[in-house]
This record gives sequence, C-alpha cells and structure tokens, in this order.
Amino acid sequence: MKGESFIKGKNFINGQWVAPTSGQSLESRNPANWDEIIGEFPRSGVKDVQQAVSAAREAFPIWRRVSRIKRAECLDAFVQLVKRDHEDISRLVTREAGKSINESRADVTEGIHMIQHEFGLGRMPFGDIVASEIEGKDSYVRRKPKGVIAAITPWNFPFAIPLWLIGPSLLEGNTVIFKPSEDTPMVGQRIVEYFEQAGLPPGVLNLVQGSGEEAGKPLVRHPEVDVVVFTGSYEVGSEIREACSKDYKKMAVCEMGGKNAVIVFEDADLSIAVNAATLSAYKTTGQRCTSAGRLIVHERVIDAFEREFIKQTRRIIIGDPLSEKTFMGPLINEAGRKKVESYNDLAVKEGGKVLLEGGRPQGNIYEKGFFVNPFVYRMEHSPQSRVLREEVFGPHVAIIPFNTVEEAIRIYNDTPYGLSLAAITEDYRKAWLIREECEYGLGYVNLPTIGAEVHLPFGGIKKSGTGIPSASGLVDAVTHKTAWTINHAKEIKMAQGLKAEIEHE
Ligand code: UN1
Repeated sequence: MKGESFIKGKNFINGQWVAPTSGQSLESRNPANWDEIIGEFPRSGVKDVQQAVSAAREAFPIWRRVSRIKRAECLDAFVQLVKRDHEDISRLVTREAGKSINESRADVTEGIHMIQHEFGLGRMPFGDIVASEIEGKDSYVRRKPKGVIAAITPWNFPFAIPLWLIGPSLLEGNTVIFKPSEDTPMVGQRIVEYFEQAGLPPGVLNLVQGSGEEAGKPLVRHPEVDVVVFTGSYEVGSEIREACSKDYKKMAVCEMGGKNAVIVFEDADLSIAVNAATLSAYKTTGQRCTSAGRLIVHERVIDAFEREFIKQTRRIIIGDPLSEKTFMGPLINEAGRKKVESYNDLAVKEGGKVLLEGGRPQGNIYEKGFFVNPFVYRMEHSPQSRVLREEVFGPHVAIIPFNTVEEAIRIYNDTPYGLSLAAITEDYRKAWLIREECEYGLGYVNLPTIGAEVHLPFGGIKKSGTGIPSASGLVDAVTHKTAWTINHAKEIKMAQGLKAEIEHE
C-alpha cells in the first residue's frame, strides 16, 4: 500500500536528480506498519558511485575557492527552509524510522542546531597566529579542506547524523557524497532537496542511495574519496577502516556502538536515578548508540531502585509513534527484532533473573509493526557474560549490583566499548572518580546517557570510535592543519640557532 505521500526517490549527482543506472529500485516501509510503503528509492551500484565521485572531485576546486562566509550562508539558507517545514519533516522521520514524534522533532532540531553551529563558525577564525623565535617571522596555522568526503549514515538519527557529517564538511570547503541508510532513504533525499534549494552549486553535495553492499562498498573503496565519515555498527565500521587502510591517503572516521551504563550510587536521588535510567534505556526504543543497556546499582539501594524502575517501565506507552503520548515506537526492522529477542534468550541462558519478560505486545495496533516490550533482568557481573558486554540495540536492560566505587568502575569498563555513561550521585568525590577512571567519550552526572548537544564533540573510544569525534568535532577529520610562515625582514634568519650565513672559501 502506497502511503499518504508516496515518494519516488532519485539519486542527486552533479546537480541533477537521476535514476540509477541499474534502473531498479528498493522500497522504504514504515516500521510501525509494514504495509505502508513510504517510497521507492534507487538501487545504486558501482557506476552511480563513480559518477557521483567524479562530480564531487570536479566541484572541489570550485567550492573550496568560494568565500568561507558565502559557504556558510548556504548553510543558513538550509536552516531557514528546514525551520519552515519542521513538523512535516518530523512526521516523515517518524514514518520512516518509527521514532516517537517527539523524538523525531528533536532529531530535526538537532540537525538544525548542527547547521546553525557551522553557519556561526563561518565568521569565526579557522586557524591561529603563532609566535616565532625570529622577530621578522609570522606563522599561521590554517585549516585546509581534505577534498572529497563520503558520508555514510544510520537510520536511528536519519536527520541529525547526516548533518553532523555534511555540515562541517561543506563549511570547510569539501565536497560530499552522501549515502543514507537503506532504512531511511526518504529522509536522506529531503536533506539533499533542501541543500539544492539553499543554492549549493552542482557537484558539491551528491546523493547515492542503495545498500551498503552495492553502493556503500564501492564508495568506500573509490580511490578519489579522501575521507570516509561513518556512523553505524562496529561490524561495518571496522570493515570500512580496514578497506581505507589499504590506501595510503584515505582516512576513516567511524562512530560505532556502545554498551553504556547508568551507575546508581547509594546516595543517589531515587527519582533522578529512575528517570535517568528510563530515558537512557527506552528512548528511541533502546536504539541509540548512547542508550544504556546496563544499570549498575549499589547493593544498598538496588531493591528500592529495581521496584521503582519496573513500576515506571510498566507505565511506558508503546504504540503508534505518531501519537503524542507514545514513548516507545517499534524497532526498525525484523532483523533488529530478531537480534533483540535472541539476546533476551541469551540473558536467560547466562543466568539472568528475569524481572520483565519482553515479548511482543498484543493487539491490533501492534500486528504490522516490529514492536517489542522491555526485557529487564538482574544479573551479577561476569567477564564471561556476552549479554553484559555486547550491544543489543533495543529495550534490553540488565540491572547489575556493585558494592564499592572501584567495583562499579571495574564493571563499567569491562566491555569492549566506551561511549557514554551517567553517574547518579550527590557525592562529587564519587563522580570525580568515575570521570577519571572510566572509559567513555560522553560522561554525565545526574542525567541520562543520551541527549548530547551538537557543540560538544560526539564520540567514544575502544570499539565505539576511532578517536576523532563527530558533530562539532568532525572538523579535525575533514581538514588538515597547515603551517604557513612568512618572513618580513630583508634577510633570512633561522630558528633553533641554525646558521643562515652561507660562507664561501
Ligand atoms: C546515536 O545514537 O547514534 O546523544 C546518536 C544522543 C543524541 C545522538 C545519538 N544526541 O543521544
């Protein structure tokens, strides 16, 4: 069934909307009602990728010469258009990604904030002036664009994350090939439509739709791509890094998963602890890379916390994500649901004491969507346990007891990931130990593990990231820093005491 505003998607290459060379398309369906087809989008392959990369390569020398302020003004024009259509885009995000409407609005707002941030930077310094040992010398540190950027993005933040990657790339003078997730291609197309209307010259931003296998792989491997910026799973991210490492000049910047935690101390304000845990575990149906699947709770308060957390979880409204009251929409697709269900089974096998059984909610409204109920269990920490160490990406929550701060830190660090954590405590000394000893990219006190703002660097360590953050931090991936030194004197004088006189026999 074609949905309310069926979209026939195209690729956008060198300023033209074009069909893929395969002539074939793929469908985008609503995860809350798989009968609804949101649209059809191009099934692209190597040829489409080649055309898009050539267009971006040709546009690069032109775009990088456009004044930084003019480039920034295109970003401002984009923001004005998106603000006008905010509600309409949010509804599309909900229909395509299944997120509750409030979360989709926040996703669009986060995208706006990212581009506003970059617009603001247009009139800010993009380097430094530094002193020299020699009086007549001035040195500048100047950022220069890297060239052609491939941006490969996930479905869980189909609006904000592409803009985390595209915004800084464009402001700094790079050109971009954007490949959105095949689960949210229509939101991807909308982003590019607004950039076209905002007046970006042809070839500066290109859109290639399709699967990771058929379109993503050749894009990552194309020799004319300088940097691949990616947000998604660890599995895909590590493949991308490996492919890029074979090219001496190609860099891969990947934001990958998490196995995040809320750490609740014995002095915590119980209502803050329960609310922070609920938001961390269930927003976006547990499908944020910042979602917390682990609640590490002090033994002295674990029973009270557990009681209140379960009570709160039971009250969560699961349902139509377009309804204002819904807290949790469906998972993204059947593969996502199977994965969550298999981890729920594994938790039982690994000895978790089940507190809420998960399963699928019953009733007409749930029949055609990938809905699941929260699954909650209590389990002692064990370094052998897979469920306590692997990312699930769904409402699958372990409550893990601890006794001392040192033990909480040890448990928290005992996963291969290091993205986000929240410490719930009134004791600044405990918070300080967590800040210093835990491995993370985003740390919070008395807040959930989710909800980072774009002017902060977004990224993690270990299996969560490659060390260069996204959002405002992406500038370090899409530019290189150059040193530029000028001599104003009439003679050459060298630093480090190096002799400049050329003596003759
Ligand atoms: C993601 O889950 O991939 O910090 C991004 C947050 C959001 C971004 C999440 N601002 O939860």
